[in-house]
Amino acid sequence: MTAEALSGCPVLHSADEPRLDFGGTTPYEDYVHAATLHDLQRPVTDEPLERSFLVVTQVMELYFGLLAFDLKYARDRLAEDDVRSATAALRRCVLHVKALRAAWLPIARMTPREFNAFRDALGEGSGFQSAAYRHVEFLLGEKSASMLVPHRSVPAQHAELARALAEPGVYDAALALLARRGHGVPDDVLNRDLTRPYTPSPAVEEVWAKIYATDDGEPVRLGEALTDVAEEFTGWRHDHLMATRRAMGSKPGTGGSAGVSWLEKRARRDLFPELWTARSHV
Ligand code: HEM
Repeated sequence: MTAEALSGCPVLHSADEPRLDFGGTTPYEDYVHAATLHDLQRPVTDEPLERSFLVVTQVMELYFGLLAFDLKYARDRLAEDDVRSATAALRRCVLHVKALRAAWLPIARMTPREFNAFRDALGEGSGFQSAAYRHVEFLLGEKSASMLVPHRSVPAQHAELARALAEPGVYDAALALLARRGHGVPDDVLNRDLTRPYTPSPAVEEVWAKIYATDDGEPVRLGEALTDVAEEFTGWRHDHLMATRRAMGSKPGTGGSAGVSWLEKRARRDLFPELWTARSHV
């Protein structure tokens, strides 16, 4: 801060310098709410690494919310046959998940001793209880009514997740669009129970195989954007699994699961399954 600013006298600035004097808070603060953000870091121990863990977790939480926003946007544009905007939104999603994966760096190599130094203070808290993450999974087709249970006591959060459970995911919207364009997506797939996880269909595999074999332009670009989202998201799950193995071996999780063996099962699942299996038939 300059001497003038500290003394409270009017501050002169030349045209090519940033403005220094503001009546109240800065416009940056008004837009970003940086003070509020910084106030949200409340570690529960004095371990310096716990602050990294908390900030990384909060950054990831924000990205889960952003990802849900853009996945919904992509789904809604697909429903309006606006494939260009939908594909652009999916491309943004790929970059969000790349950023999510890079965010692991400060905590990816925690040793068990470092993690133990603050682990007990986390109590039963686990990323498993993230409503935003669950919303993302629902939009990616991984539906599960039981995943609403942890959110029963927070009505607004529960209602949002219940809505997402019953609504189409981004892949449902992509298949409905292909059906409108004359591709043979069967009715039982189009009218499936949306509250259940998406299950692979040989007929959908055939649709994608035909699209990829004939290079249909827009549908292939959509298929590739969806495949990129799937690959990066699986990559995040894998990064999480590796960080967990390094930090706690095969101990049970704070959320009550078996830990690594439970995460391994989750990481093996493929998103948008026919986009992977169709490739064997092209
Ligand atoms: C190295 C530190 C971490 C360890 C050791 C760890 C461990 C675990 C374990 C064992 C689970 C299974 C559920 C349980 O019993 O708790 C889990 C789930 C989960 N964790 Fe982490 N975690 C870590 C960091 C993070 C971070 C930074 C995030 C970001 C928000 C996160 C998000 C999640 C999510 C979303 C789930 C649920 C996954 C699913 O439902 O498939 N974790 N974690």
